Amino acid sequence: MNTITVKSPASVANLCCGFDIMGIALSGLYDVMTLTKREEKGISIKHIDKYNLPEDPAQNVAGVALQAMMDALQYPNGFDVIIDKQIKPGSGIGSSAASATGIVVAANELLGKPFGKKELVAFAMEGEALASGSRHADNLAPCIYGGLTLIRDTATLDIIELPIPPMYVNIVHPQIEIKTSYARQILPKEVPLKSAITQWANVAGLIAGFIKADYGLISRSLIDVIVEPVRSKLIPGFDEVKKKSLEAGALGGGIAGSGPSLFMFSENIDVAKAVEAEMIKVYKSLNIEYKTYITTIGEGVVVDNS
Ligand code: HSE
Repeated sequence: MNTITVKSPASVANLCCGFDIMGIALSGLYDVMTLTKREEKGISIKHIDKYNLPEDPAQNVAGVALQAMMDALQYPNGFDVIIDKQIKPGSGIGSSAASATGIVVAANELLGKPFGKKELVAFAMEGEALASGSRHADNLAPCIYGGLTLIRDTATLDIIELPIPPMYVNIVHPQIEIKTSYARQILPKEVPLKSAITQWANVAGLIAGFIKADYGLISRSLIDVIVEPVRSKLIPGFDEVKKKSLEAGALGGGIAGSGPSLFMFSENIDVAKAVEAEMIKVYKSLNIEYKTYITTIGEGVVVDNS
């Protein structure tokens, strides 16, 4: 096999209280990448999307991730890469993670799977670091493992795959861009103990709720007292969308990753449709362009055999 095409999913990191440690893969929203082995050394990247991302491999999230893998293998040849991004950069639903993970999964397949999932996350993290200025794996791990993942420790990549009960996921993406690096820069460096206690209680509650498929507990635990109060100010309509979504019956939700997208979990499709209608109303009234999606929790990067 010399050529492979993969679909690399969007993802939602943090899930309110789990800043930098939790994330889910989404179904039906993905980038498409085609990788071809070549004799000539190096990486050449071509984007066939509308996002004008750098094609210099050293400045491209996917290029940096692939280079990390090639360096580890001391790979003597090279790759041609074609990327069709569907996930808008700066949307909050893991655009850079989709680039970084899709390429390493694709290369690993082409090379006969020399690496396991954890090593793939480590290579992809090099790309994520270029995009956000920080090493975190909460979008990357669900793209590699699928479903819901917990990063207990980023330095050693202690990644735990967790069950999650069926839920619908609403996404609303107001068409503004928030750079992850900026959304990280504005966060407090220290946290009062009282807030920390609330936050770790909610993380524990949320994980327990997922494992027990206890929707009430999930709903009560989707609270972020540390990051959301700071970042939500960057997102027009945030408070209104959240309030109206909860009134429409959503279990809860908040900022998707570093924003500007918001996510909401719902137990059934009727509620998800009602939530979407409320999201649309808010952004129409604010005269802000938006995109909405109703999706579910999905698998990681898959080989596209179509
Ligand atoms: N956990 C990250 C953040 C996700 O919220 O900054 C975005 O890359």
